[in-house]
Amino acid sequence: MSDASVTPRHVAIIMDGNGRWATQKGWPRLVGHRKGSERVKTIVRAAPDLGITHLTVYAFSTENWKRSTEEVLGLMKLFARYIQREAEALSKENVRMCFIGDRKRLEPKLQELMAWIEKRTENNTRLTLTVAINYGGRDELMRAARKLAQQAAEGLIDPDAIDESMLDGALDTAHLPPPDLVIRTSGETRVSNFLLWQAAYSEYEFTPILWPDFTPEVLAEILSRFGHRDRRFGGVKT
Ligand code: IPE
Ligand code: IPE
Ligand code: MG
Repeated sequence: MSDASVTPRHVAIIMDGNGRWATQKGWPRLVGHRKGSERVKTIVRAAPDLGITHLTVYAFSTENWKRSTEEVLGLMKLFARYIQREAEALSKENVRMCFIGDRKRLEPKLQELMAWIEKRTENNTRLTLTVAINYGGRDELMRAARKLAQQAAEGLIDPDAIDESMLDGALDTAHLPPPDLVIRTSGETRVSNFLLWQAAYSEYEFTPILWPDFTPEVLAEILSRFGHRDRRFGGVKT
């Protein structure tokens, strides 16, 4: 289908370039992360009017623990603050907020806030905002494999019955359709362990814009290009 009216339902974003944005201005990296979290708010607000029903953002990878303690703690604080400060607005705007990634390594207080906002917004339907924190595609697949192996060992499932949909259901993203479009900012053209299974047939867009400079206008422009792409899913053009 190459119909200009086609809008991606599920857009996933690798929000990259906060550090460079701040460094270029002679500021600490955390200033870039703060600005980046403001951008998330702006994009969340703009997304439904652009036809997006699911927005997934990569905020912290399983590899990001390698960064300095100061940066990691600063990011964790920003996540907690985002939840606390946005709770009211998300409810008003009918946005459901969810998380993917392994929460066990996060501070208990942050885990509590995550569970609280998920519960508070669970019936909201205008947009599903999913934030990936301590998320890695390989880690998620490993945890899903463990879960299914455990169920098989307990005799709850037959190993031969494990199919794609069962694996889908064991992933953190069980609540989501696959992403139609994955966007990465900052000019890097790699996947960095994001949605490895789910993005098997996603379109990719790479933009040199650093995440703190990303705007709804840029997003709208990327989406308009998406409408002209020919997604074949392994078939032939009809
Ligand atoms: C993306 O920005 C945010 C996170 C990974 C937490 P970066 O912090 O990776 O910014 P750069 O790539 O160093 O510019
Ligand atoms: C990917 O960005 C992870 C997030 C945006 C959260 P990174 O900056 O961590 O990725 P690499 O290190 O450039 O691959
Ligand atoms: Mg980066």
